[in-house]
Amino acid sequence: PKRIVVLISGSGSNLQVILDQTREGRINGTVAAVISNRADAYGLTRAEQAGVDARLLDHKLFADRESFDSALIELIDNYQPDLVVLAGFMRILTPELVRHYQGRLMNIHPSLLPKYKGLHTHRRALEAGDDVHGCSVHFVTEELDGGPVIVQARTPIMKTDTEDSLQQRVHTLEHQIYPLAVEWFCNERLTLASDGVQLDGTPVGAAGFD
Ligand code: GAR
Repeated sequence: PKRIVVLISGSGSNLQVILDQTREGRINGTVAAVISNRADAYGLTRAEQAGVDARLLDHKLFADRESFDSALIELIDNYQPDLVVLAGFMRILTPELVRHYQGRLMNIHPSLLPKYKGLHTHRRALEAGDDVHGCSVHFVTEELDGGPVIVQARTPIMKTDTEDSLQQRVHTLEHQIYPLAVEWFCNERLTLASDGVQLDGTPVGAAGFD
């Protein structure tokens, strides 16, 4: 089984599905540690309840982003992960960290990338009058929310939708596609090539499901 380290800043609902599916054997991997930059992240409690190492690395105790990320690399590498999963980790990463985990660092983002990189994605989709929205799992590169997409899920935007209703629906989709991408990686079916992501040797540029 592959060794997975999950980085969080908050509730950790995506972490929870990954914990569940590794325990159930649906993902051929084991979560070696959960690391949060925030002491109040509920995901730390989820990790403890699952019997997984729950570690806090408070970014406020570091002088700058570079020193925080250096400490983070050291902490992560103690667990010798095959895969590092960002699950609501709300920190911008240094190029040093991104390069260190090139090809084994994944993120989930609540929009249909390349649309709406950054924050407030649901509000921006609503304000733009989009009729479809969703979420994306991607490999992390130095460009913020710009790495090659592994899988996306989409949902129609309805007239009655609010930021909150949309956020909830997208969250449910996240819980479907993130464990799928992790499972693919753990079964060595995913590769990050120079021209994008391949699943079983085939480019996944158009992958996604409704
Ligand atoms: C998720 O919606 C995830 O897509 C988003 O944070 C939430 C974490 O939820 N990530 C980002 O916005 C990254 N820029 P969770 O803690 O319940 O998994």
